[in-house]
Amino acid sequence: MTYNNILTATSEGILTITINRPDKLNALNYETIQEIGKAVDAGNSDPSVSGIIITGAGEKAFVAGADISEFAHFTSPEAEKLSRDGNDVFHRIEQSAKPVIAAVNGFALGGGCELAMSCQIRVAAEHARFGQPEVNLGLTPGYAGTQRLVQLIGKGKALEYLMTADMIPAAEAHRLGLVNYVVPAAEVISKSTEILNKIATKAPLAIEAIIRCVNSYFKDGENGFETEIVEFGKCFATDDFKEGTRAFLEKRKAEFKGK
Ligand code: COA
Repeated sequence: MTYNNILTATSEGILTITINRPDKLNALNYETIQEIGKAVDAGNSDPSVSGIIITGAGEKAFVAGADISEFAHFTSPEAEKLSRDGNDVFHRIEQSAKPVIAAVNGFALGGGCELAMSCQIRVAAEHARFGQPEVNLGLTPGYAGTQRLVQLIGKGKALEYLMTADMIPAAEAHRLGLVNYVVPAAEVISKSTEILNKIATKAPLAIEAIIRCVNSYFKDGENGFETEIVEFGKCFATDDFKEGTRAFLEKRKAEFKGK
């Protein structure tokens, strides 16, 4: 597939999606978000891919937000559609059957913070800065910043950052639980790769099920406890469960096939 705003490359089972608008600090216009969604979907349907990394081109920004120049003249219905369609893509990332890591190589503001939060794990460069500065523009976040920031750091700090628009330095983001790791800038991809490689040694169907179970906790109308009971039961019908238990009893490393 060819894209206008992102680069994709697959190596040793990892699909890396690089948002490639460095002169605009990788700001997310409509087309870029749709392309990210398509690339994640493609990674999910490619059997050679076991995990996905999303990062930004250049050294300065992961993503400095939604593209302000694109929506500056939007009407309310146009803005609602922009938000709805973007939310759809970010949901697909959050629900991705294969793990998605945000390798946050710089500013992750507005839509950039929201994109990172929709990934399952975040690895940040030491100079990365997070934030939801939409109130500076007379806006609320539009890609679920008010929801996922609360989920990750709790209501009190989320409300503070959403209302003050203060940037969150990487070290503070780590302290708050917004990011999993903070590493030197040169190591964001290698650290993300290391995590994905470790996950790739586990049973893929169990990983998929864990992503479904954890997301179920936050889904309206779903009972995460019940989701886990059902997923646990389903695991017993997989070859990987048989292989995992047999390997344990035979004191050898399991070889999972995702079946
Ligand atoms: N949308 C569109 N363009 C953006 C952008 C965005 N969210 N963020 C940065 N850019 C563009 C700038 O307009 C500039 O383009 P130009 O060179 O054609 O003028 C270029 O990227 C570089 O940005 P600049 O502001 O000059 O860099 P800086 O180092 O001075 O500041 C930031 C960096 C991130 C602090 C600043 O760009 C910023 O505040 N961006 C907007 C953040 C935001 O509000 N995001 C939420 C959007 S809803």
